[in-house]
Amino acid sequence: MIYDVIVVGSGVAGLMAAIEAKTSSNKVALITKGNLFKSNSSIASGGINAVLDPNEKEGIHFHVVDTIRACFGLENKKAITYMCERAPYMIKKLVDYGVEFDRDKDGNIAQRSFGGGRTQRTCYVGDKTGSAITQALIKKAKSVGITFLANNFVMNLTSLNNRISGVVALRRSDSSVVVYPAKSVVLAGGGYAGIYRGHTTNAQDYSGDMLAIALRAGLTLKDMEFVQFHPTGLHKTSYLVSEAARGEGGYLINEKGERFVNELERRNVVSYAISQQIEAGHKVYIDLRHLPKEKIETKLPSLYKAAYNQAGIDVTKEVLEIRPLAHYSMGGIESNMTKTSIKGLFVCGECAAEGVHGANRLGGNSLLEGVVFGELAGENALEFTQNKEFLPIDYNLVIKDQKMVDWIFDMDTSKNFNAMRVSMGETMFKNAGIHRSETSLQKAFDYLKYLRNETITLHCIDKGRHNNVELISILELRNALEVAEAVVLAAMFREESRGAHHRDDFVKDDISLQKSILISEPKKGYFDVRYEDKGFIKFIRNLFKG
Ligand code: FUM
Repeated sequence: MIYDVIVVGSGVAGLMAAIEAKTSSNKVALITKGNLFKSNSSIASGGINAVLDPNEKEGIHFHVVDTIRACFGLENKKAITYMCERAPYMIKKLVDYGVEFDRDKDGNIAQRSFGGGRTQRTCYVGDKTGSAITQALIKKAKSVGITFLANNFVMNLTSLNNRISGVVALRRSDSSVVVYPAKSVVLAGGGYAGIYRGHTTNAQDYSGDMLAIALRAGLTLKDMEFVQFHPTGLHKTSYLVSEAARGEGGYLINEKGERFVNELERRNVVSYAISQQIEAGHKVYIDLRHLPKEKIETKLPSLYKAAYNQAGIDVTKEVLEIRPLAHYSMGGIESNMTKTSIKGLFVCGECAAEGVHGANRLGGNSLLEGVVFGELAGENALEFTQNKEFLPIDYNLVIKDQKMVDWIFDMDTSKNFNAMRVSMGETMFKNAGIHRSETSLQKAFDYLKYLRNETITLHCIDKGRHNNVELISILELRNALEVAEAVVLAAMFREESRGAHHRDDFVKDDISLQKSILISEPKKGYFDVRYEDKGFIKFIRNLFKG
């Protein structure tokens, strides 16, 4: 089947891109590796930032200023300004699409405080904003005639003369490798916080597939060392205790009942303070006991239920133990207002490094980025298709991917992919987590190298080709290890502390390093890691991977 536009990913960015790219006469497909409702957008529960009145210039200016402040020097001002100016229109569009934001007593859209914001500008639907937006966009996408290709795992991109020609995907129903030709493609398949398996709020399979695909296609990754740790994950189950809980007035305390940080500071500050408490042997809790029960029930209904179901805690009467968890990846595929260096290929959402988050991120800006740049990517993808023909497909890539799948099926193994994923997550958290050093990063690098060698000999124990979960997990793990290595190399290379990247051996920021790190894979087995310096390459380091 051929499509004018193919969008990969069913979060808010992908859905918005598909809706924008659709006309009455073209064919648009949205591909997702699992089911349509499963995406990281759904767990961004606390809200979406926006000034509601487009004429409120000062308010928009301060949204820009707060966002830049959270970037710690690595902002793209043009993209941030575009996002904040587009925000009021986007909220209106979401309302038109059926999102029922909470209202104040006068019937206006209610807004709450979020960390790092100087005013209340986070619009919300209780504490399930992301899933409410996702559901409304799915309905809209269905109504405009998007074709949904669920359970298709994109393995690679095809292109000719640096122009995109389609995507190669594993059809999970029968494990065959298929190609979907397209005139333009949008990658919107999420980030890589899932590489911190066991220490992440993300669904565990959000481990960087888009970025690994981009590397193999010759694209550049940017800002990979910046991984955001959300301050409050439920200690027991890794459930995200939304920032809404602090926005509504919750405190962070240790077991002595002491508050130790401004709860509405930027996330890197709060997470670091919590990790210091935990490393000093304290336990850390979120305390909502002073809030009216009715407020908790109406503003934080999901947390109220989850705390009870998952930890047996009634948050109206008891404190809830929390710990920081990897939540969001600021790094991603280098992007210029959704455009990439391959013609007809666009990126948006968490897999893209547009520069709106820099070295950190304001809570509430991820859903905004997703819908704003999703919209732009969809417009760009549609425009690109005008007066274009489909390109011929290079079937060698398809054959190569099918051979790899067959090889994973055909051989036997005694190795356990699940144990490897878990140990990848452990090593990433311990050695490339909230704080890192040359020594810890070297340990992570050596261990990842070992795991990469081990994955070459991973095969399916279950040989059934119908919806084989092992196969997809092995392919995901290969991608995840490639991305994890990029994170570790960038973190090693950045010899300073900035935003979410805290080096124990370089505790201060260094103005001369106020620039992004770029990573590409010019030759299989080699990464180029370099500082971006107004287009001038400062350092190049080639490291053999094997
Ligand atoms: O805490 C939260 O609700 C997360 C929101 C976000 O990451 O933007």
